[in-house]
Amino acid sequence: MSKRILITGGHGFLGTYLIEHLQEKYSSDYTLIIPSHEDCDIRVQVDVEKLFQNSKPDMVVHLAAKVGGIGENRSFPGQLFYDNAMMGMILMESARKYGVEKYITIGTVCSYPSHTPIPFKEDALWDGYPEPTNAPYGIAKKMLLTQARAYEQEYGFHSNYLILTNLYGPKDSIDLQSSHVVPALIRKFCDAVEEGKREVVLWGDGTPTRDLLYVTDAVEGIVSTMQNSIPLMPINIGSGQDVSIAHLATMIAAISGYNGDITWDTTYSNGQMNRRVDTSLAKEYLDFQAKMPLQEGLESTVAWYKKEKLPTSVIV
Ligand SMILES: NC(=O)c1ccc[n+]([C@@H]2O[C@H](COP(=O)([O-])OP(=O)(O)OC[C@H]3O[C@@H](n4cnc5c(N)ncnc54)[C@H](OP(=O)(O)O)[C@@H]3O)[C@@H](O)[C@H]2O)c1
Repeated sequence: MSKRILITGGHGFLGTYLIEHLQEKYSSDYTLIIPSHEDCDIRVQVDVEKLFQNSKPDMVVHLAAKVGGIGENRSFPGQLFYDNAMMGMILMESARKYGVEKYITIGTVCSYPSHTPIPFKEDALWDGYPEPTNAPYGIAKKMLLTQARAYEQEYGFHSNYLILTNLYGPKDSIDLQSSHVVPALIRKFCDAVEEGKREVVLWGDGTPTRDLLYVTDAVEGIVSTMQNSIPLMPINIGSGQDVSIAHLATMIAAISGYNGDITWDTTYSNGQMNRRVDTSLAKEYLDFQAKMPLQEGLESTVAWYKKEKLPTSVIV
């Protein structure tokens, strides 16, 4: 009998890849239930309960979230806190009530304290307050780990908790106000080439480092969690490598064919200074190791942007 898997956020960036992968490789193992935001607002408990009553999932993979880069976090900290906390709490409570066998929460590297030693190890998660620019988002997600532990203790509810680093890849959001660093840089450099601009202005001073994870690698980590029975603990899913924003910018500029000036606008926050995660637990419990080399992943993302997005962005 195929397992019934409820995937929230299945129409988002990561969700689209996860679903493609499951449909391609495991169509006889899993029956997928993929409600859109319009079908069910996960912040509304009665709607979520109806969803569980109608779909009767055996497993839940909770990807739905309100997410974004530094701009989005600065502009909408209240929405990011409320939406992510409410979605996660209501969904887990309903999953418990309706007897879901396995539940996977997707957490974020933004939950780590501002001054976490590099590489971030999972047991440092509670050692301080996150970087203020993304604390509301990071804490809302981190609370769900406490909920998961409490539910395991009180109800024997089985769940897992993955901490993803910064994702990138084709089909990511390219909205300059809300997007993450990689698509924002790709858009700025590719558009500058198209428009013949000789200067690109970037946020911050370029010194922070990030652990960038190609979206299909994230999918591998999630699928391995779906298929392995592992105890509840936070597990980092990242590349285990870091790159400075300045170096990333020069890589993306070269791939995009941009050879003009780069100016750093230091009136914008750098966000957290350094991010690189330790992936030992992912290796031990999930046999996970990121595969995509950064250069190749960036090339495929730039190629996607040029093919799919550039004509419209130039016309507008
Ligand atoms: N992208 C990253 O760099 C990154 C890094 C670390 C962790 N993560 C985590 O990975 C997961 C997937 O992220 P993503 O980048 O794929 O995000 P995304 O592209 O923004 O997708 C999120 C999905 O959630 C849906 N959603 C938002 N609010 C909802 C609500 N109230 N009810 C129902 N659905 C709702 C969105 O639908 P609408 O678009 O229709 O609102 C969208 O389909 C998230 O849990 C995120 O926190 C992402």
